[in-house]
Amino acid sequence: MARLQHFGWFFGRGFGPQGWLRDDYLWGHRWDRPAVYQQSAKALEQAGLDLLIIEDSLSPGPAEQLDLRVRSALGAPKLDPLLLTPYLFAATEHLGVAPTVNAGVHPPYLAARQFATLQHLGDYRVGLNVVTDVKGSRHFGIPELDHDASYDRAEEWMQVVRRLWHSWADGAVLEDTESWRFADGTKLDAFQHRGEYFSLDGPLNATPFDGGDDPVIVSPGGSGRGLAFAGHNSDVQLALAPLTVESVRAYRARIHAAAEAEGRDPRAITILFVFTPEIVASREEVDRLVEGSAHPADRDLQEVIERQSIITETDLTRLDLDRPLDVAVFGQHVSQGSIKSLVGSADPATPLRELFRAKYRKGRISDGSGSVGTVEQVADFLEELGDDADNDGFIFNGDLHPSTVHRTLDALVPVLRRRGILRSSFGGRGLRSHLNDF
Ligand SMILES: Cc1cc2nc3c(=O)[nH]c(=O)nc-3n(C[C@H](O)[C@H](O)[C@H](O)COP(=O)(O)O)c2cc1C
Repeated sequence: MARLQHFGWFFGRGFGPQGWLRDDYLWGHRWDRPAVYQQSAKALEQAGLDLLIIEDSLSPGPAEQLDLRVRSALGAPKLDPLLLTPYLFAATEHLGVAPTVNAGVHPPYLAARQFATLQHLGDYRVGLNVVTDVKGSRHFGIPELDHDASYDRAEEWMQVVRRLWHSWADGAVLEDTESWRFADGTKLDAFQHRGEYFSLDGPLNATPFDGGDDPVIVSPGGSGRGLAFAGHNSDVQLALAPLTVESVRAYRARIHAAAEAEGRDPRAITILFVFTPEIVASREEVDRLVEGSAHPADRDLQEVIERQSIITETDLTRLDLDRPLDVAVFGQHVSQGSIKSLVGSADPATPLRELFRAKYRKGRISDGSGSVGTVEQVADFLEELGDDADNDGFIFNGDLHPSTVHRTLDALVPVLRRRGILRSSFGGRGLRSHLNDF
């Protein structure tokens, strides 16, 4: 029997115009209303996915990149994923939902209270995708810290958030209807935190979680500091790396070492690799798609350049395509995984145009050169990484739009279930429990 794995969905565009740039948009769903997301979330739950992670960036971008970021709606607009989350809980029973929260911007007291509220509203299904990006700092009048300092701040933020969640001791809530005593105030911890980045007093004005069942912590950072943060704090790591057995094993070993360095059991972290399959009906169609992508038209290349600019949060549209890429253009906060995914293993002298063409080119999943395959080929690939790389699972990346969700999952779910790779039911209460089901 194949290894059972966890699956999730990374709503990588964020709470913005779903389906835009594709004919899917002509279905006419309103992206700024909850129904399209509720419909998609129901499908994810039915498919047996454990969680949905909602990307976010707080800023529409720096002044000089505003048109680049809004003209194709790739970087902005974005609405607040925290406020969408209760609508998704209302539409589902088991699916975990992890909106992104920026540890530099959301004051820890406010974040602890909002996520405590969501944990109660969602019956223990909320997670926090903790990010450290500083590029939106100017909207909040706070200093733009460097990469490592922003992780130092996130570490302190996380410790304070947890302390707030635990600021009501066991037995503090009485709910005694004989004496009408709701809670025992002597069991609340009015601690004073005076740290390097935050100064605040407890306790939190929210009731504690049954069994100390905190919201699930998710992290996407892939640098040494990012992995150390995951080792210390995370329940789920959103991993971006090449999907080969060696690379998955190596990434897992780094996270496990980081967890062990913090005295944690490495199995406590579920590592989900980002995966965007393109499933087609036949091997002939695989060949057609792969061959058809070998020579992108200028318009196609332009879209790749815009997308990569948004993903790396760096305006690549003005660079000379005939010169090699100088990676110094990327600021220190840009995901190393995203840079690697553009640069790949190319010779440093490769002209930028070639990197973009390579990004546009599709490859076959069957030979490891890409992610296009028939459903059986995609299932073989997922099964192999589970069995040979001890992989915990995958997170599909795409819009939270019914067309995208169905295109990715409709044919795949039955095959994965038959092979015993994908769950067909959920166990105990909430996201943490589901992650520990196997
Ligand atoms: C798969 C993935 C998802 C991410 N999602 C977000 C996000 O939603 N919001 C955000 O501000 N940054 C996001 N990031 C960026 C990371 O939070 C982080 O800022 C970046 O990876 C730099 O950290 P690192 O040097 O540790 O990789 C994401 C990165 C990856 C690889």
